[in-house]
Order: sequence, then structure tokens, then C-alpha cells
Amino acid sequence: MVKGIKCGHAAGKPGLLARRPMAGPRAREGHADEPLPYTATMTPECLLQLAAAAVAAPTADNHHVFRLAPLKSGLSLRALPEYAHSTPGRRILAQVSAGAMVENLVLRAARLGIRLQAMAPDSGPEGFRLDLTAHEVAPVQHPLEAAIEHRHTNRHFRYRGPLLPAAAQQQMCAFGEDLGGAGLVWLDEPGIRRQAVQLVRWAETERFRNPVLHAEMFGSIRFDAGWTAPTTEGVPMGALELPPPERAMFTMLRHWPVQRVINLIGMHHFIGWRGAALPCQLAPHLCAITGPDGSPASAVNAGRLLQRVWLGAQNLGLAFQMFAASAVYAFKGAYPLPEELRQSLQSAWEEMCPSATPFLVFRLGYAAPVTVRSGRLSASALLQNSSR
Ligand SMILES: Cc1cc2nc3c(=O)[nH]c(=O)nc-3n(C[C@H](O)[C@H](O)[C@H](O)COP(=O)(O)O)c2cc1C
Repeated sequence: MVKGIKCGHAAGKPGLLARRPMAGPRAREGHADEPLPYTATMTPECLLQLAAAAVAAPTADNHHVFRLAPLKSGLSLRALPEYAHSTPGRRILAQVSAGAMVENLVLRAARLGIRLQAMAPDSGPEGFRLDLTAHEVAPVQHPLEAAIEHRHTNRHFRYRGPLLPAAAQQQMCAFGEDLGGAGLVWLDEPGIRRQAVQLVRWAETERFRNPVLHAEMFGSIRFDAGWTAPTTEGVPMGALELPPPERAMFTMLRHWPVQRVINLIGMHHFIGWRGAALPCQLAPHLCAITGPDGSPASAVNAGRLLQRVWLGAQNLGLAFQMFAASAVYAFKGAYPLPEELRQSLQSAWEEMCPSATPFLVFRLGYAAPVTVRSGRLSASALLQNSSR
């Protein structure tokens, strides 16, 4: 069996990561190497700019379950009570999105002259908290930071080439070097691609066959917004980029009795193939992001790497779409799947990504611009007052 090429630790040129000192009122000449302890000097505007970066991070359903609270020593990301009531699978997805928020915060803070350092998450079934310590430093603008508000999902059916040059692929791999074993795996070799696409197809087909997964997926789509309007939360219908002939059928399928009946003629198989497997098969690149294990810390680092790669892709003008199901459905106890399917996903991933735990799959390529982008809550809605 040919294995995926994991290159999370591959050496790469620091091009996209290169840091450039930025002049600004907070710059303190000669003190860049001696970070001052963070004091309570963070202005409300600064906090709002950090919150704006955090809220721009992706979440599975475009619904943030974390809030940002200032601390004396820095900042804290804290889960809302709904986190504790969600399923283990939803919590894994939330931890990945926490990682993406952390990455945005670190990048934006650097531009504002603050070095944020993420601590290990404090996580259990009852909650999640991740603190970031802050130190004042000379402002640095990272090339990825400029992409924070531009990054978005593109669900157009067809992604086109050309392929990314090897150097760009290596550069993306290098993004994971300081992230505790998080890795980027290219699933492009034909044998590997076939196998990975099959896992995507199994998982996405199950989403339309299983009433719990079906309810979870359709629950995140904002049917009230119509096909052209964005929404501040949830996935707007327009962001699905479905061609007009498929829209009426999709709208009917949100009703489980309709889906159940039409599955008698194999509709779930068709959707798994048309909606996910085929786009992944045709895309120039298919990748997975892995962590060393299934722990919350590993999920957070996978989310940080996801965000770096996605921002880097945005800077290169690439389209990007995630498919999380085939990876997270493999976690034991995460979702109410038939055990046989879960084990098949798990063992196939183990073959493709030995000694690593995949958290998500994504496709990458060039595509038409999106017609509708998901909106966001306001930055201030993400802030929580607290100094605890
Ligand atoms: C953990 C995670 C899982 C996701 N899974 C999927 C997925 O399976 N399919 C998909 O189309 N988008 C997926 N997304 C993308 C989100 O739906 C998207 O980021 C969100 O709706 C916000 O839209 P934006 O990326 O355009 O800002 C996922 C995002 C995250 C962070």
C-alpha cells in the first residue's frame, strides 16, 4: 500500500512566513528581544481588532462556541455552555476551530505589537479554555495576517489546475514545524487519492443516510436566507454554490422523511459521490491535516496549521474547501455511526497516515469566485468581560 506523503516537518524556505518589522506607535526600538511583561495597557480598540481576527476564523457550522476574554496576563478563549452539551464529535470540530482562532489572534496581535503565546488547552467534557499570555514587542506584520479577513470557503463544483509548484507545497508543509507534531499530508499520488476519495465518499454518504448526521448537517444551513443573501451565523444557502437545477431537490431533502424515502433508490449514494467524492477526485490537490493523536491539544494545533495553510492558499489566489466527516467519523465514540464503518475509516486512515490522526481533509485548486460568502457575528459579540 502506498502511503500519503506527510511533510509536516519538511524543511522549507520561510517565504510566506517571513517576518517584517512594522513601524508603529507601539514599536520600541532596541527592546524587540526583551519582551516586556504584559500590562493592562491593551486598549479597547486593540481588543476589538483582536476579536475581529478571531471571529473571522472558520468554524464547522459558521457558529462560534468560544468567547474571548481579557486577562491580566493576556487573553482567554472560553467555551460557551453549549460546548458541554454538544456531542463528542462537535467538540472535536470546535477544538479545531479554536486552533484557527488562536492562529488568527497570534498573527493579528503581532501586527499590533503583542506577542501572544498559546498555553495548552484546559479541556474536558464540561468545558474548554485556552489562555494566551501576552508580551509587548515590536510590531511585526506577517504576510498571512493580511489574508485573515479574505479567507473563505469556495464550494464551486470544479477546481482547476495548474498544480502548485513543489516549492509552494513544501512551504505549506513547513507551516507545521512548530505545532507539536501537526502535519500536512498531500493525498495526490493516484493510488492514495483513490483511497482518500473513497473515505470521503463513505462518510459523506453516511451523512445523508443517518438521521442524526442528517439533522446535524441540515441544521447548520440557513434556508431562511434564500440563495443569494449572506448570514451572520450558519452556512447561507448561496455559499453551497449549488446550480439552480439542484436547488429545489436539496431544499426538499432537509426533511428527513423525504430523504429516507428517496434513499430507497440510492439518493444518498448519489449525493455522497456528486457532492463530495467527485469534487475531491477532480481537484488538483487533496490534503489532510493530522495531529500526533486525538487529544484536544492535538486538535488545536491541527486547527492552527489548517489556518496557516488556508491563509497561505488565500494569498496564492487558491480556492479551498474542507471535508471533515471522513476524518472525525473515525474517532471512537464521536458520532453514532455503524461501528463497522467507523473502523473501516480508522484503519484506512491508519494505512495512509501512519502514526498520525487526521482531523480534516480539504481540496485545493483554482475556481470561479464565490457568489455568497458566510458572514460573521460582530467582533464585539465575541468579547466577554472577565479578568479571571
Ligand atoms: C472544523 C471544521 C470543519 C468543517 N467542515 C466542513 C465540511 O465538512 N464541508 C464544508 O463544506 N465546509 C466545512 N467547513 C467550512 C465551514 O463551513 C466554513 O468555514 C464556515 O461556514 C465559515 O465560512 P467561511 O470559511 O467562508 O468563512 C469546516 C470548517 C471547520 C473549521
